[in-house]
Amino acid sequence: MPPDTETKKKPGIFDVITENYVWRSIFRHGYADTPRNRVLQVSANVWLHLHPSKMRRHGIRYRHTWCAGGLTFLLYLCTVVTGVVLMFYYRPTGEYAYWDVKYLDFDVPFGMIMRNMHRWAAHGMVIFIWLHMFRVFMTGSYKPPREFNWVVGVNLLTLTLLLSFTGYLLPWDQLAIWAVTVGTNMARATPLLGNEGPFGPQLGMTPRYDARALLTAGTVVGSPTLLRFYVLHCIFIPIIASILMILHFWRIRKDGGISGPL
Ligand code: HEM
Repeated sequence: MPPDTETKKKPGIFDVITENYVWRSIFRHGYADTPRNRVLQVSANVWLHLHPSKMRRHGIRYRHTWCAGGLTFLLYLCTVVTGVVLMFYYRPTGEYAYWDVKYLDFDVPFGMIMRNMHRWAAHGMVIFIWLHMFRVFMTGSYKPPREFNWVVGVNLLTLTLLLSFTGYLLPWDQLAIWAVTVGTNMARATPLLGNEGPFGPQLGMTPRYDARALLTAGTVVGSPTLLRFYVLHCIFIPIIASILMILHFWRIRKDGGISGPL
């Protein structure tokens, strides 16, 4: 046997996983220990340099990014601030929700403007997130090394749409109740998890125990659904979205800043 084959170690399962393309797009370890890489480690560190120590000229050109990602984030901050103000006046029960919204609209000082700022910022966020995704696609910025950040972005898009959907129920008027009744009914057809979806009944899904029942906290849209949507809208989804946004911004730096010009 030639000497080099004798010493070559067979890759173990751990090597197969960590050398995998998907793994390496998420965790970028094992850079060569060169003076340049050591400088990069310090200059690209977000804790040591909150603002990038170096920017490429095209990165700050409006026509490259349309600032769409930044505007999406600004609108998100706007919904968070106005949303917290609304929380001071809103009680998520079938008895009070509708009247609390009316109280906000007609009696609370600046209540109507807070409510409308919240609503329009949410609509704007949905518009700008699509524009941002379109720009990222058109500039080819989803390509390596940014493919993982694209995946993070897709999750942010889903969460943004879910925030809109869960928020829609909270005014507790006829429009909200019936729109969410239609929306949650779609969950019946979820593959595997819906009682009318492919393989759902075979897996034991029933109208009382499936994806739709999980969303509505029962078999119809009612007060328990309102509470569930409120918790999802005000706590659960914003926390996950905020964590993913931090990851998204951190990755932009780690992937070498905004992508280059076409
Ligand atoms: C809450 C939602 C989102 C926020 C706040 C956000 C924010 C940002 C910001 C501020 C940037 C810097 C450049 C710019 O402003 O365009 C950026 C870049 C990027 N975003 Fe997003 N984004 C979001 C959603 C998405 C979505 C839905 C995708 C794609 C599916 C995406 C993929 C990317 C990628 C790949 C980059 C790097 C682009 C480059 O290097 O040119 N993001 N994002």
